[in-house]
Amino acid sequence: MRPFDGRRVLLVVSGGIAAYKSAILARRLIEAGASVDVILTESAERFVGAVTFEGITARPVHTSVWDRPMAHLELGKRADVAVVAPATAETLARLAWGRADDLATTTLLAADCPVVLAPAMNTRMWEHAATIRNVQFLQRNGATIVGPGVGPLAEREVGAGRMSEPPEILAAVGRAIASGSALAGRHVVVTAGPTRAPIDPVRFIGNRSSGRMGYALAAAAWRRGAEVTLVTGPGHAVRPPGPATFEVETAGEMLAAVEKALTAADILIMAAAVSDFEAVEIAGSKIKKTTGGELDLKLAPAPDILSRTLGARRERGVFTLGFALETDDALENGRRKLERKGLQLIAINDATDPQSGFDVATNRVSLLDEAGNLEEMPVLSKEELADRLLDRVEGVLET
Ligand SMILES: Cc1cc2nc3c(=O)[nH]c(=O)nc-3n(C[C@H](O)[C@H](O)[C@H](O)COP(=O)(O)O)c2cc1C
Repeated sequence: MRPFDGRRVLLVVSGGIAAYKSAILARRLIEAGASVDVILTESAERFVGAVTFEGITARPVHTSVWDRPMAHLELGKRADVAVVAPATAETLARLAWGRADDLATTTLLAADCPVVLAPAMNTRMWEHAATIRNVQFLQRNGATIVGPGVGPLAEREVGAGRMSEPPEILAAVGRAIASGSALAGRHVVVTAGPTRAPIDPVRFIGNRSSGRMGYALAAAAWRRGAEVTLVTGPGHAVRPPGPATFEVETAGEMLAAVEKALTAADILIMAAAVSDFEAVEIAGSKIKKTTGGELDLKLAPAPDILSRTLGARRERGVFTLGFALETDDALENGRRKLERKGLQLIAINDATDPQSGFDVATNRVSLLDEAGNLEEMPVLSKEELADRLLDRVEGVLET
C-alpha cells in the first residue's frame, strides 16, 4: 500500500515565494496515493497559477468563498489532514486570531482534522515577537509546525525562514494522520549504510552501501508515527528528517549504538551493510609502499551485531527484520540467516541483480518469515519497498 492511499489532503497555499515548491508537494502527495484539494489565497495566485495545481491534482482549485457556497465547510469536513505550505506570516497571524476572512482561513477554522503548518518567510518576520506568539499559540492548539529551515532566502539573504523541502512536509503530514498505524508510538531502531574497518589512520575497508534502503525505512516508520532511532554508517544518501540519527563508523561503534538503542526498542530493522571482517591490527601510521612488495593484511571477523544482540532482543521481545545481500544461493543462505540470527522476517536480495542491492535506486527482495512463507516482491523503488516491508511488519504486529 502507498502511504497515503485513501487519504484526502487539503493543501492550502498562501502567498510567498516558496509557493512554487507546493506544486512539488502536491505531486508527491498524489504519488503517495492521496487525493488532494487545493486552496490558493488571493496572494498565492500571484505566485502560482491555479492551472498548475489543477493539472497536478486533476481536481478544481478553490480560491474564494463565493465560488461554491459551503465549500468552506465541505473541504474541511472531508479532509483527513490539512497542510498549509507555505504558511506566510499573514496567514499564521490570521489563523492564530481565528479570522475567517477568506476561503483558506474560513475552511481551516471550520475543519476538525489535524493541521500541519510549513512557515516560510524572511528571518526578521519569523523572529518577530508577533510571529513567535502566533506560532506558539497554534502549536499549543495542536497544529504541527514543520520547519522552517535555515538557508538562502529571497533578496539574497541567508537565515531561518526557508520553507521545509517537500519530503519533510510530506513526512510530517503522514505522521499527523498516523494514529491508525500499528507502528504509531512504537520505538523502531533502524541501522543503515556501510561500516568502515580502518587499516591505518587514512585507509579503511568499506563497501558500496549508500544507506538509501535504511533511510527509506527510517523515514517510512517515522511517517507512520513511530519513534525512530537511526544508526548509520557513512552512507552518502541524504539522511531522512525526523528520526533521531546517530552517525557511526565501525562495526564496533554500530554495535554499541544498537545495544544502547535496544534498551527501549520494540522493533529492530538491520539494513546496514556491516563489514564482516576487520583488520587484526590497525597500523598507527600510514602504511608505506615498499618497492614491489605485497602487503599482507590479516583480517578477523568484525562484531556480528545480530548475533551479539540476540539475547537482548529475545529478552525484550524485539521484532527483528534483517537483510541478506547474497551473491549465490540467495534463498538458502537467507533462510539459514533467519534461523541463526533469531529474525522474524528477512529480506533477501541478490547482489548480482543490477536492479537490486548497493547504491541503486531500486531493489528486489524475497521476503521470508519464520513460518517459511516466501513472498517474491517485484522491482520497486527503495521508498516503495520500505512501505511494503513495513506493511508486513505491521501485519505481524497486529496478529
Ligand atoms: C515578492 C513577494 C514575496 C513574498 N514572500 C513572502 C514570504 O515568503 N513569506 C511571507 O510571510 N510573506 C511573503 N510576502 C508577503 C505576503 O505575500 C503578504 O503578507 C500577503 O498579504 C500574504 O497573504 P496570504 O497569507 O493571504 O497569502 C511576499 C510578498 C511579495 C510581494
